[in-house]
Amino acid sequence: MIGNPTERDALYYGGARAVANEAESAQEQTAIQPCVVSGTASQELSEAISRQSGIPLLDRRIERFPDGELYVRLSESVRGRDAFIVQSTCAPVNDNLFELLLLLDTLRRASAGRITAIIPYYGYARQDRKSIGREPITAKLVANLLAAAGANRVLSVDLHSPAIQGFFDIGMDHTSAIPLLAEHLRARLPRESVLVSPDTGGVKRVDTYARMLDLPIAILHKRRANAREVEIAAVVGDVRGKVPVIVDDIIATGGTIRRAVDTLVAAGARPEAWVVASHGVLAGDAIANLSHPQIHEIVVTDTIPISPALRAELPKLHVVSVADLLASAIHRLHKGLSLSALFPQGGAQPI
Ligand code: R5P
Repeated sequence: MIGNPTERDALYYGGARAVANEAESAQEQTAIQPCVVSGTASQELSEAISRQSGIPLLDRRIERFPDGELYVRLSESVRGRDAFIVQSTCAPVNDNLFELLLLLDTLRRASAGRITAIIPYYGYARQDRKSIGREPITAKLVANLLAAAGANRVLSVDLHSPAIQGFFDIGMDHTSAIPLLAEHLRARLPRESVLVSPDTGGVKRVDTYARMLDLPIAILHKRRANAREVEIAAVVGDVRGKVPVIVDDIIATGGTIRRAVDTLVAAGARPEAWVVASHGVLAGDAIANLSHPQIHEIVVTDTIPISPALRAELPKLHVVSVADLLASAIHRLHKGLSLSALFPQGGAQPI
Protein backbone atom coordinates (compact mmCIF):
# COMPACT_ATOMS: atom_id res chain seq x y z
CA MET A 1 0.00 0.00 0.00
CA ILE A 2 1.23 3.44 -0.83
CA GLY A 3 1.04 5.37 2.44
CA ASN A 4 2.15 8.88 1.68
CA PRO A 5 0.04 11.38 -0.24
CA THR A 6 2.88 12.56 -2.47
CA GLU A 7 3.55 9.00 -3.59
CA ARG A 8 -0.18 8.45 -4.24
CA ASP A 9 -0.42 11.69 -6.20
CA ALA A 10 2.65 10.80 -8.24
CA LEU A 11 1.18 7.34 -9.01
CA TYR A 12 -2.33 8.48 -9.95
CA TYR A 13 -1.57 11.76 -11.69
CA GLY A 14 2.02 11.37 -12.78
CA GLY A 15 3.14 14.32 -10.63
CA ALA A 16 0.44 16.72 -11.88
CA ARG A 17 -1.24 16.60 -8.48
CA ALA A 18 1.96 17.82 -6.79
CA VAL A 19 2.06 20.78 -9.18
CA ALA A 20 -1.61 21.51 -8.38
CA ASN A 21 -0.77 21.40 -4.66
CA GLU A 22 1.87 24.05 -5.16
CA ALA A 23 -0.56 26.28 -7.08
CA GLU A 24 -3.19 25.79 -4.38
CA SER A 25 -0.80 26.69 -1.63
CA ALA A 26 0.06 29.89 -3.58
CA GLN A 27 -3.71 30.52 -3.76
CA GLU A 28 -4.00 29.98 -0.01
CA GLN A 29 -1.39 32.70 0.43
CA THR A 30 -3.31 35.20 -1.75
CA ALA A 31 -6.62 34.25 -0.10
CA ILE A 32 -5.57 36.03 3.08
CA GLN A 33 -4.23 39.06 1.20
CA PRO A 34 -6.55 42.06 0.91
CA CYS A 35 -7.48 43.19 -2.58
CA VAL A 36 -8.58 46.56 -3.94
CA VAL A 37 -10.98 46.86 -6.87
CA SER A 38 -11.34 50.22 -8.53
CA GLY A 39 -14.61 51.50 -9.92
CA THR A 40 -14.27 53.71 -12.98
CA ALA A 41 -15.20 56.87 -11.03
CA SER A 42 -12.22 56.47 -8.71
CA GLN A 43 -9.53 55.02 -10.96
CA GLU A 44 -6.85 57.65 -10.26
CA LEU A 45 -7.53 57.69 -6.52
CA SER A 46 -7.50 53.86 -6.41
CA GLU A 47 -4.11 53.82 -8.15
CA ALA A 48 -2.78 56.27 -5.55
CA ILE A 49 -4.25 54.12 -2.72
CA SER A 50 -2.64 51.07 -4.28
CA ARG A 51 0.76 52.80 -4.41
CA GLN A 52 0.46 54.00 -0.78
CA SER A 53 -0.80 50.68 0.59
CA GLY A 54 1.30 48.37 -1.56
CA ILE A 55 -1.88 46.39 -2.42
CA PRO A 56 -2.08 45.84 -6.19
CA LEU A 57 -5.35 46.70 -7.90
CA LEU A 58 -7.34 43.65 -8.89
CA ASP A 59 -7.59 43.09 -12.61
CA ARG A 60 -11.19 43.65 -13.72
CA ARG A 61 -13.22 44.43 -16.83
CA ILE A 62 -16.01 46.98 -16.87
CA GLU A 63 -17.69 47.37 -20.22
CA ARG A 64 -20.93 48.63 -21.64
CA PHE A 65 -23.28 46.66 -23.88
CA PRO A 66 -24.63 48.47 -26.95
CA ASP A 67 -27.94 49.07 -25.12
CA GLY A 68 -26.18 50.82 -22.24
CA GLU A 69 -26.23 47.97 -19.72
CA LEU A 70 -23.00 47.45 -17.79
CA TYR A 71 -20.86 44.30 -17.75
CA VAL A 72 -18.38 43.56 -14.97
CA ARG A 73 -15.93 40.66 -14.62
CA LEU A 74 -13.02 40.03 -12.27
CA SER A 75 -10.03 38.45 -13.98
CA GLU A 76 -8.71 36.69 -10.87
CA SER A 77 -10.04 34.77 -7.90
CA VAL A 78 -11.21 36.63 -4.80
CA ARG A 79 -12.44 33.58 -2.90
CA GLY A 80 -12.01 34.20 0.82
CA ARG A 81 -10.21 37.52 0.34
CA ASP A 82 -10.75 40.79 2.21
CA ALA A 83 -12.00 42.91 -0.70
CA PHE A 84 -12.20 46.71 -0.85
CA ILE A 85 -14.05 48.44 -3.71
CA VAL A 86 -13.21 52.12 -4.22
CA GLN A 87 -15.94 54.02 -6.02
CA SER A 88 -17.29 57.53 -5.48
CA THR A 89 -20.92 57.97 -6.44
CA CYS A 90 -20.23 61.27 -8.16
CA ALA A 91 -21.43 62.29 -11.64
CA PRO A 92 -22.63 60.47 -13.62
CA VAL A 93 -24.20 59.52 -10.29
CA ASN A 94 -26.63 56.84 -11.42
CA ASP A 95 -24.07 55.06 -13.61
CA ASN A 96 -21.42 55.12 -10.90
CA LEU A 97 -23.85 53.95 -8.24
CA PHE A 98 -25.08 51.08 -10.38
CA GLU A 99 -21.52 50.09 -11.30
CA LEU A 100 -20.71 49.96 -7.57
CA LEU A 101 -23.73 47.69 -7.00
CA LEU A 102 -22.56 45.39 -9.82
CA LEU A 103 -19.05 45.23 -8.36
CA LEU A 104 -20.50 44.31 -4.96
CA ASP A 105 -22.70 41.61 -6.49
CA THR A 106 -19.73 40.26 -8.46
CA LEU A 107 -17.51 40.02 -5.39
CA ARG A 108 -20.25 38.38 -3.34
CA ARG A 109 -20.97 35.78 -6.02
CA ALA A 110 -17.22 35.19 -6.37
CA SER A 111 -17.14 34.34 -2.62
CA ALA A 112 -14.97 37.19 -1.34
CA GLY A 113 -14.47 36.75 2.41
CA ARG A 114 -15.51 40.27 3.39
CA ILE A 115 -16.51 43.17 1.13
CA THR A 116 -15.99 46.81 2.07
CA ALA A 117 -17.33 49.58 -0.16
CA ILE A 118 -15.03 52.59 0.14
CA ILE A 119 -17.17 55.48 -1.09
CA PRO A 120 -14.98 58.60 -0.82
CA TYR A 121 -17.90 60.79 -1.97
CA TYR A 122 -21.33 59.44 -1.02
CA GLY A 123 -23.73 60.83 -3.62
CA TYR A 124 -27.45 61.31 -3.00
CA ALA A 125 -26.56 62.26 0.60
CA ARG A 126 -28.23 65.65 0.51
CA GLN A 127 -31.70 64.08 0.41
CA ASP A 128 -31.35 62.66 3.91
CA ARG A 129 -34.89 63.43 5.11
CA LYS A 130 -38.24 64.50 3.71
CA SER A 131 -38.30 68.28 3.66
CA ILE A 132 -41.82 68.21 2.24
CA GLY A 133 -44.40 65.44 1.67
CA ARG A 134 -44.08 62.84 -1.11
CA GLU A 135 -40.26 62.97 -1.45
CA PRO A 136 -37.81 60.03 -1.32
CA ILE A 137 -34.98 59.76 1.21
CA THR A 138 -32.23 58.89 -1.22
CA ALA A 139 -29.40 58.61 1.32
CA LYS A 140 -31.32 55.78 3.03
CA LEU A 141 -32.27 54.12 -0.26
CA VAL A 142 -28.60 54.03 -1.30
CA ALA A 143 -27.67 52.53 2.10
CA ASN A 144 -30.28 49.78 1.56
CA LEU A 145 -29.04 49.10 -1.98
CA LEU A 146 -25.40 48.78 -0.88
CA ALA A 147 -26.27 46.22 1.81
CA ALA A 148 -28.60 44.30 -0.52
CA ALA A 149 -25.91 44.11 -3.21
CA GLY A 150 -23.41 42.50 -0.83
CA ALA A 151 -21.48 45.16 1.11
CA ASN A 152 -20.48 43.92 4.57
CA ARG A 153 -19.08 47.31 5.50
CA VAL A 154 -19.07 50.84 4.07
CA LEU A 155 -16.52 53.57 4.62
CA SER A 156 -17.01 57.15 3.51
CA VAL A 157 -15.38 60.55 3.92
CA ASP A 158 -17.19 63.59 5.36
CA LEU A 159 -20.79 62.54 4.80
CA HIS A 160 -23.10 65.46 4.17
CA SER A 161 -24.83 64.56 7.43
CA PRO A 162 -23.30 62.26 10.08
CA ALA A 163 -26.81 60.88 10.76
CA ILE A 164 -26.49 58.92 7.49
CA GLN A 165 -24.33 56.43 9.43
CA GLY A 166 -27.52 55.37 11.19
CA PHE A 167 -29.13 54.47 7.84
CA PHE A 168 -26.89 51.38 7.73
CA ASP A 169 -27.49 48.11 9.56
CA ILE A 170 -24.06 46.92 8.38
CA GLY A 171 -20.75 48.38 9.60
CA MET A 172 -20.36 52.03 8.60
CA ASP A 173 -17.12 53.94 9.15
CA HIS A 174 -17.10 57.68 8.72
CA THR A 175 -13.68 59.26 8.26
CA SER A 176 -12.79 62.88 7.66
CA ALA A 177 -10.55 64.89 5.35
CA ILE A 178 -10.83 67.92 7.66
CA PRO A 179 -7.47 67.31 9.41
CA LEU A 180 -5.74 67.12 5.99
CA LEU A 181 -7.46 70.28 4.75
CA ALA A 182 -6.73 72.16 7.99
CA GLU A 183 -3.10 71.10 7.73
CA HIS A 184 -2.94 72.52 4.20
CA LEU A 185 -4.40 75.83 5.42
CA ARG A 186 -2.35 76.12 8.62
CA ALA A 187 0.83 77.56 7.11
CA ARG A 188 -0.93 79.52 4.37
CA LEU A 189 -3.73 81.54 5.96
CA PRO A 190 -3.03 85.09 7.10
CA ARG A 191 -3.27 85.58 10.90
CA GLU A 192 -6.25 87.92 10.53
CA SER A 193 -8.50 85.21 9.00
CA VAL A 194 -12.03 84.29 10.05
CA LEU A 195 -13.55 80.88 9.33
CA VAL A 196 -17.07 81.19 7.92
CA SER A 197 -19.83 78.61 7.66
CA PRO A 198 -22.07 79.48 4.71
CA ASP A 199 -25.12 78.05 6.54
CA THR A 200 -26.24 77.24 10.06
CA GLY A 201 -26.07 73.49 9.30
CA GLY A 202 -22.27 73.80 9.03
CA VAL A 203 -21.65 75.26 12.51
CA LYS A 204 -20.09 72.09 13.96
CA ARG A 205 -17.91 71.73 10.86
CA VAL A 206 -16.55 75.28 11.08
CA ASP A 207 -15.99 74.79 14.81
CA THR A 208 -13.92 71.68 14.08
CA TYR A 209 -11.71 73.73 11.74
CA ALA A 210 -11.59 76.58 14.27
CA ARG A 211 -10.28 74.30 17.00
CA MET A 212 -7.62 72.92 14.66
CA LEU A 213 -6.54 76.31 13.32
CA ASP A 214 -7.21 78.44 16.41
CA LEU A 215 -9.19 81.03 14.42
CA PRO A 216 -12.48 82.84 15.11
CA ILE A 217 -15.71 81.88 13.35
CA ALA A 218 -18.65 83.61 11.68
CA ILE A 219 -21.88 82.09 10.37
CA LEU A 220 -24.09 83.02 7.45
CA HIS A 221 -27.78 82.37 7.52
CA LYS A 222 -28.55 80.83 4.13
CA ARG A 223 -31.99 80.18 2.70
CA ARG A 224 -32.45 78.00 -0.36
CA ALA A 225 -34.90 79.65 -2.76
CA ASN A 226 -35.00 76.49 -4.93
CA ALA A 227 -32.65 73.60 -5.95
CA ARG A 228 -30.41 76.05 -7.84
CA GLU A 229 -30.76 79.37 -6.01
CA VAL A 230 -29.75 80.38 -2.47
CA GLU A 231 -30.04 83.70 -0.64
CA ILE A 232 -28.10 84.85 2.41
CA ALA A 233 -30.18 86.62 5.04
CA ALA A 234 -27.64 87.50 7.78
CA VAL A 235 -23.99 87.47 8.88
CA VAL A 236 -23.40 86.40 12.49
CA GLY A 237 -19.92 87.27 13.79
CA ASP A 238 -17.20 89.82 13.15
CA VAL A 239 -15.76 89.67 9.63
CA ARG A 240 -14.77 93.34 9.19
CA GLY A 241 -11.16 93.71 7.94
CA LYS A 242 -10.62 89.94 8.08
CA VAL A 243 -9.75 87.41 5.38
CA PRO A 244 -12.83 85.16 5.08
CA VAL A 245 -12.24 81.42 4.84
CA ILE A 246 -15.49 79.78 3.76
CA VAL A 247 -15.79 76.21 5.02
CA ASP A 248 -18.28 73.75 3.46
CA ASP A 249 -18.58 70.01 2.87
CA ILE A 250 -19.55 70.17 -0.82
CA ILE A 251 -19.05 72.70 -3.58
CA ALA A 252 -21.58 71.79 -6.27
CA THR A 253 -22.53 74.73 -8.52
CA GLY A 254 -20.53 77.16 -6.38
CA GLY A 255 -23.68 79.30 -6.02
CA THR A 256 -23.48 79.17 -2.21
CA ILE A 257 -19.83 80.23 -2.33
CA ARG A 258 -20.39 83.10 -4.77
CA ARG A 259 -23.19 84.53 -2.62
CA ALA A 260 -21.17 84.02 0.56
CA VAL A 261 -18.20 85.94 -0.90
CA ASP A 262 -20.44 88.81 -2.05
CA THR A 263 -22.16 88.97 1.35
CA LEU A 264 -18.92 88.84 3.32
CA VAL A 265 -17.22 91.52 1.24
CA ALA A 266 -20.33 93.71 1.54
CA ALA A 267 -20.12 93.18 5.33
CA GLY A 268 -16.53 94.53 5.36
CA ALA A 269 -14.43 91.35 4.94
CA ARG A 270 -11.28 91.61 2.78
CA PRO A 271 -11.91 90.83 -0.90
CA GLU A 272 -9.54 87.85 -0.90
CA ALA A 273 -11.65 84.90 0.24
CA TRP A 274 -10.41 81.36 0.73
CA VAL A 275 -12.77 78.45 0.16
CA VAL A 276 -12.31 74.95 1.57
CA ALA A 277 -14.53 71.89 1.11
CA SER A 278 -14.07 68.12 1.28
CA HIS A 279 -15.87 67.36 -1.99
CA GLY A 280 -15.50 69.29 -5.26
CA VAL A 281 -18.65 68.23 -7.11
CA LEU A 282 -18.15 71.24 -9.43
CA ALA A 283 -21.27 70.96 -11.56
CA GLY A 284 -23.39 73.39 -13.58
CA ASP A 285 -22.11 76.97 -13.34
CA ALA A 286 -19.26 76.07 -10.94
CA ILE A 287 -16.50 77.44 -13.16
CA ALA A 288 -18.21 80.81 -13.57
CA ASN A 289 -19.18 81.06 -9.90
CA LEU A 290 -15.76 80.03 -8.58
CA SER A 291 -13.86 82.32 -10.97
CA HIS A 292 -15.11 85.13 -8.72
CA PRO A 293 -12.34 87.81 -8.66
CA GLN A 294 -12.60 88.08 -4.87
CA ILE A 295 -11.66 84.41 -4.32
CA HIS A 296 -7.97 83.86 -3.59
CA GLU A 297 -7.82 80.04 -3.37
CA ILE A 298 -10.22 77.08 -3.40
CA VAL A 299 -9.11 73.88 -1.64
CA VAL A 300 -10.87 70.54 -2.16
CA THR A 301 -9.83 66.87 -1.99
CA ASP A 302 -9.68 64.19 -4.67
CA THR A 303 -12.71 62.24 -3.36
CA ILE A 304 -14.17 63.26 -6.72
CA PRO A 305 -11.81 63.22 -9.70
CA ILE A 306 -11.02 66.64 -11.13
CA SER A 307 -10.16 66.56 -14.81
CA PRO A 308 -7.08 68.36 -16.16
CA ALA A 309 -9.46 70.51 -18.25
CA LEU A 310 -11.30 71.64 -15.11
CA ARG A 311 -8.04 72.34 -13.32
CA ALA A 312 -6.93 74.46 -16.27
CA GLU A 313 -10.20 76.41 -16.10
CA LEU A 314 -9.85 76.95 -12.34
CA PRO A 315 -6.21 77.85 -11.67
CA LYS A 316 -7.10 78.89 -8.09
CA LEU A 317 -8.15 75.32 -7.28
CA HIS A 318 -5.82 73.28 -5.08
CA VAL A 319 -6.43 69.55 -4.56
CA VAL A 320 -5.40 67.71 -1.38
CA SER A 321 -5.30 63.92 -1.73
CA VAL A 322 -7.15 61.52 0.59
CA ALA A 323 -5.22 58.53 -0.83
CA ASP A 324 -3.01 58.20 2.24
CA LEU A 325 -6.04 58.46 4.58
CA LEU A 326 -7.90 55.73 2.68
CA ALA A 327 -4.81 53.51 2.39
CA SER A 328 -4.46 53.74 6.20
CA ALA A 329 -8.17 52.98 6.62
CA ILE A 330 -7.84 49.86 4.43
CA HIS A 331 -4.76 48.73 6.35
CA ARG A 332 -6.53 49.24 9.70
CA LEU A 333 -9.76 47.54 8.63
CA HIS A 334 -7.86 44.59 7.22
CA LYS A 335 -5.81 44.18 10.40
CA GLY A 336 -8.83 44.77 12.68
CA LEU A 337 -7.31 47.96 14.13
CA SER A 338 -9.22 50.98 15.45
CA LEU A 339 -10.03 53.77 12.98
CA SER A 340 -10.18 56.48 15.66
CA ALA A 341 -6.74 57.76 14.69
CA LEU A 342 -8.26 58.75 11.34
CA PHE A 343 -10.94 60.98 12.88
CA PRO A 344 -10.44 64.64 13.77
CA GLN A 345 -9.06 65.23 17.25
CA GLY A 346 -8.15 61.58 17.70
CA GLY A 347 -11.61 60.04 17.84
CA ALA A 348 -14.36 62.66 17.47
CA GLN A 349 -16.77 61.69 14.71
CA PRO A 350 -16.51 64.02 11.72
CA ILE A 351 -19.20 66.60 11.04
C1 R5P B 1 -25.59 72.26 1.48
O1 R5P B 1 -26.21 71.96 2.48
C2 R5P B 1 -24.15 71.89 1.28
O2 R5P B 1 -23.46 71.89 2.49
C3 R5P B 1 -23.49 72.84 0.29
O3 R5P B 1 -23.50 74.15 0.83
C4 R5P B 1 -24.21 72.85 -1.02
O4 R5P B 1 -24.38 71.54 -1.47
C5 R5P B 1 -23.44 73.64 -2.04
O5 R5P B 1 -24.18 73.66 -3.23
P1 R5P B 1 -23.90 74.74 -4.35
O6 R5P B 1 -22.40 74.77 -4.57
O7 R5P B 1 -24.65 74.26 -5.56
O8 R5P B 1 -24.43 76.05 -3.86
